[in-house]
Amino acid sequence: MDLIVARNRTDLIKARRDGSVALVPTMGALHEGHRSLIRAARARADQVVVSVFVNPLQFGPSEDFSRYPRTFDADLDVCRAEGVEVVFAPAVQDMYPPDRQVSVSSGEMGRIVEGASRPGHFDGMLTVVLKLFNLVRPDLAVFGQKDAQQLAMIRRMVADLDVPVEIVGVPTVREPDGLALSSRNRYLSAAERQVALALSRALRAGAAERVPSKVRAAARAVLEEAAPELELDYLALVDPATFCEVPELYSGEAVLAVAARTGTTRLIDNVVIALSPA
Ligand code: PAF
Repeated sequence: MDLIVARNRTDLIKARRDGSVALVPTMGALHEGHRSLIRAARARADQVVVSVFVNPLQFGPSEDFSRYPRTFDADLDVCRAEGVEVVFAPAVQDMYPPDRQVSVSSGEMGRIVEGASRPGHFDGMLTVVLKLFNLVRPDLAVFGQKDAQQLAMIRRMVADLDVPVEIVGVPTVREPDGLALSSRNRYLSAAERQVALALSRALRAGAAERVPSKVRAAARAVLEEAAPELELDYLALVDPATFCEVPELYSGEAVLAVAARTGTTRLIDNVVIALSPA
């Protein structure tokens, strides 16, 4: 069956088939990581809808909204190859009419870790995700663990606002040398890409430890070796559900998350670690 490109709610209603629907929200510039989200969606639902929308609300004034890669034709090819039924690609003015007033607040959790570095980011991200849920009306939606706090915030929104959508998290896809796949990797020069490898190396070093202070120290040592070419934004060892820093006597799963800049490119990565007190 031909891929349908839907631009608005009417197109979406026309494209709707009987059976379950899985939504894969994206900002386009699709890569192998998105393919794994689409495959997870495909395995769980009768119809897969991929949204392609670079959401201005989740970019700060000094962030990369205007230069964010837009590769729509190539994205359609990826969707066709993965057997996606519908691509939803709305226009910015349709998603955000000038008279709009109401948006989602991400609360305290949206102002820590990644949210502390990117004020307003999670409010903008949750607002578009809720709008996409209301437009597409999926049974389930698939997100990458690569954006771990985003995934946790979406789970929080779905719980707090009783949104009837099942949230599925999919593991991060990495290059053979460890670099997490990201649409922003295409900004990196060859030299910057080498520097960026320190993120995944630091996470591996941290993941070899079991006690919070040792995890943080091991990861930080690797990141410091890569300075000043790598400019650390944050290194955080947090509870996966709340994104609050875990105490020293913590037992269970924690997320070790890092954000850093090389050149003009800001990258994030994370790993889940099972911690046990010494
Ligand atoms: O992860 C992304 O690409 C975006 O944050 C999302 C979930 C599509 C919302 O714009």
